[in-house]
Amino acid sequence: MANANSNNGQSPRSVESAKERGAYYTPEPVVRSLLSWAVRSTEDRLLDPSCGDGRFIAGHLKSVGIEQDPDASATAMQRAPGALIHEGDFFSWAGSTEERFECAAGNPPFIRYQRFKGAARARAIEFCDTLGAHFSGLSSSWPLFLVATAHLLHRGGRMAFVVPAEVGHAPYSSPLIEYLAQNFSFLQIVAVRNKIFPHLSEDCWLLYAGEKGGSTKEICLSILDEFYYCDKPPPVDVRVALSAWRCIWNWRLRPFLMPKSARDLYERVAQEDDCFRLGALAQINIGYISGANDFFHLRLSEAQDLGIPSTCLQTTVRNGRALPSSRLDETTVERWLREDRQTLLLRLRKNQELPNPVRSYLETARAKEVSGGYKCRTRNPWYVVPDVKIPDFFLSYMSGRKVLLVQNAAGCACTNSLHTVRLKNKAAQAQIRAAQRSLLFQLSCEVEGHPLGGGMLKLEPREACNVLVQDSSALSRGDTCIVEDGIISLQAWRHYAPA
Ligand SMILES: C[S@@+](CC[C@H](N)C(=O)[O-])C[C@H]1O[C@@H](n2cnc3c(N)ncnc32)[C@H](O)[C@@H]1O
Repeated sequence: MANANSNNGQSPRSVESAKERGAYYTPEPVVRSLLSWAVRSTEDRLLDPSCGDGRFIAGHLKSVGIEQDPDASATAMQRAPGALIHEGDFFSWAGSTEERFECAAGNPPFIRYQRFKGAARARAIEFCDTLGAHFSGLSSSWPLFLVATAHLLHRGGRMAFVVPAEVGHAPYSSPLIEYLAQNFSFLQIVAVRNKIFPHLSEDCWLLYAGEKGGSTKEICLSILDEFYYCDKPPPVDVRVALSAWRCIWNWRLRPFLMPKSARDLYERVAQEDDCFRLGALAQINIGYISGANDFFHLRLSEAQDLGIPSTCLQTTVRNGRALPSSRLDETTVERWLREDRQTLLLRLRKNQELPNPVRSYLETARAKEVSGGYKCRTRNPWYVVPDVKIPDFFLSYMSGRKVLLVQNAAGCACTNSLHTVRLKNKAAQAQIRAAQRSLLFQLSCEVEGHPLGGGMLKLEPREACNVLVQDSSALSRGDTCIVEDGIISLQAWRHYAPA
């Protein structure tokens, strides 16, 4: 069996560079499941746009595989001698081929935008643009592979692919889903909670699209705890109307993983007059990036020894883990200073006259080193840390059990270990304080945020803007149980395990 060893059949060299190429090969039962639905006849022509070592194309005689890695394509040729294999970039080939297919199956590379770049990315984005699917430069590679593959199918054709679980929340999943819904009569996504790839940190789901040439107004969603072999897509658990997916759920399927009762309650509460989105009440940003935390954050004893005046120092939260759970006040900051923690940010302004002790500090050998660092050398002057704000609240954005929303009663700034929440008007203070204690706020963070791996929940500023703010002390006992169930179910999907 192909995945008999711990590297799933890949050599040490290929494992080393696997991340670069998005090369994680698919377990055999998954390959067989997808193929048995996609291929209907021995006469069908099958396409795998990124065939790796050829495990999909080996399952059907009339196959075409594209693979850019020479080692992998050589293995594919041995494994699938009857298949036609093109070595090279899929998008270059797709842009010029006249070939069309009855079916496609595979597992596209999951290459994030930081690595999926240059001419390859430009070609892929441009190709999808011409098809009417518009992706930004921040897209991962896989949705572009699926759009281009869909284009190469005949009328009536179908495709079945492994996709990362981010199909349920990433902004770049929506152009793919819109494209498939406009071009296929049937679209099904299978969410699988436990890992399909035991050695990958990424959770993977499955995607099926059928009857090319039609269109659909819904996504069929199946929700499985565990992958199991099946020769057709598993039974549908939820029919997600695209209109609701777009408008109520911000183009995300993740909320449909929670029980219907929790979704109904969420939808109802979101429309109530006293419920607001956090972004309507406040501006949410990442904290400042100093570029050299050890240099720019001083202990009280250091600042005193150096003689740095207090006008050049700003108390700050250097590390989000130090925060109390609901309110940061002077007493806590005084304790941090007494404990001689690195709580004082060297805060200098652009045209400021520098006091002599500061000047001396900026001329030390360490300062010379820091000034040439990646962040500092692009600043003018290098020692002015930009975007230092004093927020009204801090928001934790990488959370285990609970997202913290902490009132800033101490006038502190914070590094990018936290998000800053600055009120748009004073009246919002009471609303946000009520949300601090609210279970609904916690549920909303689960719904609007996304899993980060390792059981963590991440909230990007754009996601935090969508979080619901309402005083849930008015929730009935029954509704409280529904909200709790919603939280527990979404925590389970991000693999959060309570201690
Ligand atoms: C996730 S692996 C999947 C391989 C195989 N389909 C499977 O499921 O086992 C993705 C493959 O895509 C290949 N690849 C990455 N970028 C490519 C590109 N632009 N064109 C063709 N293949 C590419 C990688 O080398 C890798 O072998």
